[in-house]
Amino acid sequence: MKYHVLTLFPEMIMQGLGVSIIGRAMEKGLLELEAVNIRDYANNKHNKVDDYPYGGGAGMVMQAAPVYGAYEAVKEKIGYAPRVVYLTPQGEVFNQQLAKELAKEDDLVFLCGHYEGIDERVLEEVVTDFVSIGDYVLTGGELPAMVMIDAVSRMVPGVLSNGESGETESFEGNLLEYPQYSRPEEWHGKKVPEVLLSGHHANIAKWRREQSILRTAQRRPDLLEKARLTEKEKDFLSK
Ligand code: ADE
Repeated sequence: MKYHVLTLFPEMIMQGLGVSIIGRAMEKGLLELEAVNIRDYANNKHNKVDDYPYGGGAGMVMQAAPVYGAYEAVKEKIGYAPRVVYLTPQGEVFNQQLAKELAKEDDLVFLCGHYEGIDERVLEEVVTDFVSIGDYVLTGGELPAMVMIDAVSRMVPGVLSNGESGETESFEGNLLEYPQYSRPEEWHGKKVPEVLLSGHHANIAKWRREQSILRTAQRRPDLLEKARLTEKEKDFLSK
């Protein structure tokens, strides 16, 4: 997977994503990350990339030409028109399903806006996916792009080691993950649930599944509607 992030703040992207699991995957060559500075495609001597909005109003608008130049440079380099994600609170809300789908691409372009947005005309020409990371407004698209890159990367084969499964955790099957415990057996007077010490794998699996269901019902009842529960499990919940 190769990520191409079109941004006015390349250092933010490069510094934020070089560590931990994503950093290791980049060293292994499973992921590549390039930040394309939109300012490098400003074709005026002051390197200006924004201007006043037609019709008036507060703030500045990122102009079409530099954004288009940055996009064209990526397209020419990779030799095809890639999927282009524009980060905006006006987009479809990001979720695990979309992360999985995007992980199948060879290249992904993320377009990060600032100020009062980007000239609509270039968005119409290049953007394939308008995506929001939630119903709140941030100052720019860089953090949302980094959030998406993190979530997509862990769905790229080989990025997670065998131990770090992408399958048994929160949102798989629309259930939240069960609670986890590690040593010591007792801490602040709280004991680790007996069943986890039993070594009885079937009972442990059953307990974990029940905990997932209970936790989802308590914390994210909206997800439960999409989870596929057996009749027995529905009974268990209604008790
Ligand atoms: N840009 C500003 N706010 C955003 C959000 N919530 N999601 C994606 N991009 C954004």
